[in-house]
Amino acid sequence: MTAPRTPFPIPRRGLIGFALGALAAVGVAIALLAGRSASAIAESPAGTQPHHVRVVWTESPKDSATIAWSTREPGATHRVLLDREPRAGDRARYERTVVATRNGDYARLPEEASLAFHHAVVDGLQPSTTYWFVVESDGVASPERHFVTAPADTRAFALLAGSDSRSDRAQRRAMNGLLRARFEADEQVIALLHGGDYVYDGLSLELFAEWLSDHELTTTSAGRVLPIIPTRGNHESRGELFDQVFGWPGGPVGRNWFACRLGAETLLLVLNTETALGGDQADFVRDSLETARDRRWLLASYHQPAFPAVKDPSPALEHWVPLFEEYRVDLVVESDGHVQKRTVPIRGGRAGPDGVVYIGEGGLGVRQRSPDATRWFLQEPGFARRGHHVWRIGIGADAIELEAYGEDGARTDAARISGKRE
Ligand SMILES: [Fe+2]
Repeated sequence: MTAPRTPFPIPRRGLIGFALGALAAVGVAIALLAGRSASAIAESPAGTQPHHVRVVWTESPKDSATIAWSTREPGATHRVLLDREPRAGDRARYERTVVATRNGDYARLPEEASLAFHHAVVDGLQPSTTYWFVVESDGVASPERHFVTAPADTRAFALLAGSDSRSDRAQRRAMNGLLRARFEADEQVIALLHGGDYVYDGLSLELFAEWLSDHELTTTSAGRVLPIIPTRGNHESRGELFDQVFGWPGGPVGRNWFACRLGAETLLLVLNTETALGGDQADFVRDSLETARDRRWLLASYHQPAFPAVKDPSPALEHWVPLFEEYRVDLVVESDGHVQKRTVPIRGGRAGPDGVVYIGEGGLGVRQRSPDATRWFLQEPGFARRGHHVWRIGIGADAIELEAYGEDGARTDAARISGKRE
């Protein structure tokens, strides 16, 4: 059995240490609140003007996406207008209308103002195809945006991967500018895999409204939206707000796990360390990997690490690592530690040439920590450093190319994983 994990996990360092840590956490929260010059909710556009427009990918992004947005007033009629040609916002000319079927008020803390969410699930899309769209609430439309669906064939593509954007808003906005620059410059990039801990308190709509505003900084100057593949982290381990932001990815709270198929050869398991890792979820991992045996590339991603560079291992070490090794998973993306790390290939608790590589651990806007460089799995050719970063995971026919970029945009790591499931 896996013990329920608290939203702010208690470090194993004794009562006095914990009390000091709790005081520090309260201090951080007060500083965060005091440092906020204005409310992101209060600054939202009035009426039903759509904002916070985002595109979310889960199981089948080659032909499906969730387009979501926020409005200040709840409104009555919400829809997406969509076309394979740009229509410059001329709403009479879009070829397709998709009604937003999931609408409501975001969950919020008692003292917070309200904001409404809207989700339209758009399916029947063509792969590797650009779709231009506006979203509309009670006749008020957003500017035109566009996104590109995931491939269904064997062409090379890349994911940006990062997490832990929760507590340093200026740094988060700077990193989002870096994500946008990479997205604009790199035509292989198709989406952002976010490993969780979006905000400090996942029950706070104000903090999520800030995050959603900041996420819009990743949209290119031409209006291309960076789709997000979402993961629950421990700072949003409880509550409905995560689901209302990201469209119940892989089910509601307590589930939130799914298998994302990318191209003809890649399976990405997005897992949830904030609920039981064994039982149904472990069965899902096994069944998904068994079904995907003929796929060339198997990846997994989740929040709390099995091979952490700072903290203690999560139950992923017990429940999932044996399955990753049995099915010869190629790459695992972990978060939560606030360091940049890449392990040696690991099999059976030791370094081995046909093992699984674990990268991480979150640097999109949170104070960075110093890795414990003495850990065996971080020795050369492994690597760890302190510093904000984003990963680029390039997936080609013959290899997975890993690169990491620091906050100044300079490359801080590069490695290559060759296929081992010949
Ligand atoms: Fe975390």
